[in-house]
Amino acid sequence: MTKKRALIIGITGQDGSYLAEFLIKKNYIVHGMVRRSSMPNTQRIDHILSTSRDEESSNKKIIREYGDLSSSENIQNIIRRIKPDEIYNLGAQSHVKVSFEIPEYTYDIVAVGPLRVLEAIKNIKPNIKYLQASSSEMFGNSENNIQNENTQFNPESPYASAKTLGYWTTRNYRDNFKIFASNVIMFNHESPRRGLNFVTKKIVRGLIEVKNKKRKYLYLGNLNAKRDWGYAKEYCEVMWKMLQLKKADDFVIATNTHYSVRDFVEAAGKELNFEIIWKGKGTKEVGIDKKTNKTVIKIDPYYFRPNDVQSLLGDASKLYKAIKWKPKTSFKKLVKIMVDKEIELIKNNKIY
Ligand code: NAP
Ligand code: GDD
Repeated sequence: MTKKRALIIGITGQDGSYLAEFLIKKNYIVHGMVRRSSMPNTQRIDHILSTSRDEESSNKKIIREYGDLSSSENIQNIIRRIKPDEIYNLGAQSHVKVSFEIPEYTYDIVAVGPLRVLEAIKNIKPNIKYLQASSSEMFGNSENNIQNENTQFNPESPYASAKTLGYWTTRNYRDNFKIFASNVIMFNHESPRRGLNFVTKKIVRGLIEVKNKKRKYLYLGNLNAKRDWGYAKEYCEVMWKMLQLKKADDFVIATNTHYSVRDFVEAAGKELNFEIIWKGKGTKEVGIDKKTNKTVIKIDPYYFRPNDVQSLLGDASKLYKAIKWKPKTSFKKLVKIMVDKEIELIKNNKIY
């Protein structure tokens, strides 16, 4: 049987690396778009990166395609050459706060990027199946306590607005040009491979560094925001399953539980033998380790956003029904996975 060929855009990121491992196990030939950079940016995929460009001798490893979502020409050349069966677009300037600082760039990559890919699919090989990484951030501060596929979008950051454009472009290409194009509307998902400046990874690494006396305090912003945190490795499997369905469609993926940033600090602290209690209010609030009476958490308003989404909680029942999938990793287990792996990474002087 001929092997299926996938192109992963955003392969060097958290999700891209897990998806690549999964597709290789499924016997796919995997090509991955890697941005050109002056220093290596492939830490998360080095263990599965082929040294060969040849599909035959790539030997169950990823073939690197230098590329960038900012260039139609570049995207078209890659798609014309490798003619994939499936494209997973996970590429993005994915940080919400950063999007307030570089909105134009964020729109270019996050909103126009999917358009560039879909237009290339339409013109080069319209039977390619396309998956768009959409975001729960599109719901913003919703009037609905629980959000699903029917909840109205209320994007409140440049990132969320750009993702909403990407979402609609995906639907338009499905409806107007009959392309198999699906949106996976993902609620927050974390892992040891999470980028360092997202709150979960920052908390885990920061608290270990406090424990190791490498720093005195961990500085955070809004402690009260609640997120529906799942495990990234599981969500990547769902991406593939969505493209194996008979019809393209849009699905929410979430755990249907949510916790605050404060809860995450306390849970990660517990794994590290801290007992964190809170004192004070607003920017003067501090997190103290009850066992030593030392302050470990402080607030830095730098990390506040012009507008923050206060609560996200997903209802993924449509997905559960369509592919019989349910999340397996609890919040507590996720925190433990992240803490245990981070201790090992720090010991070995490694960053994912
Ligand atoms: P991530 O770790 O930030 O990875 C983003 C990927 O996009 C990286 O490979 C990055 O390359 C690449 N990229 C950035 N700019 C690019 C450009 N101009 N051209 C091509 N590639 C570019 O994000 P993630 O957590 O894996 O998330 C994957 C996708 O799901 C993103 O689209 C994100 O917005 C979306 N999403 C994530 C979550 C979540 O909780 N993780 C939830 C909802 C939606 P470099 O490595 O070179 O930077
Ligand atoms: N990053 C960060 N750093 N966030 C902080 C901090 C801090 O020091 N302190 C508090 N927070 C709060 C943020 O204000 C936000 O309310 C919450 O922690 C989560 O922030 P992030 O981890 O940066 O994630 P996000 O929810 O803004 O965005 C992530 O999830 C989206 C899906 O809902 C990203 O992965 C997006 O790409 C994704 O679309």
